[in-house]
Amino acid sequence: MNADLLVRGIRQLATPQGPGPKRGAEMRRLLVIEHAAIAVARRRILWLGPEAEWTGHAPQSVDVGHRAVIPGLIDPHTHAVWAGDRLADFEARISGVAYETILARGGGIWSTIRATASASEEELVALAKPRLDALVRSGATVIEVKSGYGFTPEAELRMLRVIQRLTPARPARIIPTLLIHVPPKNESERAAYVSDACRILIPEVARQRLAQAVDVFVEKEAWSAVEAEQILNAARQHGLGIKLHTEQFHRVGGLEVGLRMNAPSIDHLEACSAEQIAQVGRSATVATILPGVSLHLGLPPAPGRALIDSGAAVAVGTDLNPGSSPLFSISAALALAVRLNGLTAQEALVAGTLNAAAALSLSDAGRIEPGMPADFLVLDGPDWRSLVYTLGANPVREVWIAGERVAA
Ligand code: NIG
Ligand code: FE
Repeated sequence: MNADLLVRGIRQLATPQGPGPKRGAEMRRLLVIEHAAIAVARRRILWLGPEAEWTGHAPQSVDVGHRAVIPGLIDPHTHAVWAGDRLADFEARISGVAYETILARGGGIWSTIRATASASEEELVALAKPRLDALVRSGATVIEVKSGYGFTPEAELRMLRVIQRLTPARPARIIPTLLIHVPPKNESERAAYVSDACRILIPEVARQRLAQAVDVFVEKEAWSAVEAEQILNAARQHGLGIKLHTEQFHRVGGLEVGLRMNAPSIDHLEACSAEQIAQVGRSATVATILPGVSLHLGLPPAPGRALIDSGAAVAVGTDLNPGSSPLFSISAALALAVRLNGLTAQEALVAGTLNAAAALSLSDAGRIEPGMPADFLVLDGPDWRSLVYTLGANPVREVWIAGERVAA
């Protein structure tokens, strides 16, 4: 076997195996190899196994010093492009004003929409770059980034252009999503907004290939289930994927729309009922949970444990955004999922790799396996579980994307 590079000195290699997503008890099954090596050829994994069993040839080798190696992590849910800050909201919330009350008063997401509108594309690119760099340093090798702070069709297209400009500028793979976030404040303008989104914005986004999927925020203070279904049907008709922000605060039918439409992912789910948990468990949809939101808003965490026990496939994301989750680390999101959502270390690793890839409809990411892109992380210690144990320091020492070390 001829490789370009042999990565050796791996004290422990831990990875999910085979295609995802993994559901229920399958989320606890990992391949763990002690004293391992990985051979890389043409930016992909060629071979992995016990180092003593490597018999091939590699002109170059790197010794990672008896440390653990895991697949590159995948952040399937971020709003990494915004201007301004939400420090005033944060202060108001700490003194007892609810997130939704701030939104209903025209603050919250609306204040970020205003700040984003007054920044140039160049400024938005410059603001987003260090956020993505922080996510990469924390282990993210694939990052979904949403629009949603534009509001008007033109402003949403502008946000997607900013995301497009970030793509070659950062080492991680960026997956762009169009987010239809908040409806016009005036009830009478909602129908026209939905119609413009379906007839103008979505076709244009598809034509310019500016997003892979369309996301809708289904909530009392946002879109109804009926409106979401209309928007997501238009997305499907134009060949785009679909996903939902749903059951974050209330149950207004978004989860049922997502399951009925076979969405690859439904995200948030903090407010889901026992019956809904069972429904997700019987479905093919990935439940993407966002523990940063529970921590930052002080809300009940999504029922990660119960979802897995009901047979669901769970993924974890940062939901990086200025209002509900200023969390700039995917490894910290996984560490929180263990504490707040009741995931085991094994489940958290699968949730942050293979299942997060499935939430983005990606089949070529999330595991170390021959043929996969050579995206992997060298952790700081010899045991991979330090990934979810560590709080406040970075457990990730090196980030490799497509066979190249991009961050240390
Ligand atoms: O995922 N819930 C709606 N959207 C975002 C928050 C956006 C914001 O507060 O700026 C979320 O929580
Ligand atoms: Fe979100």
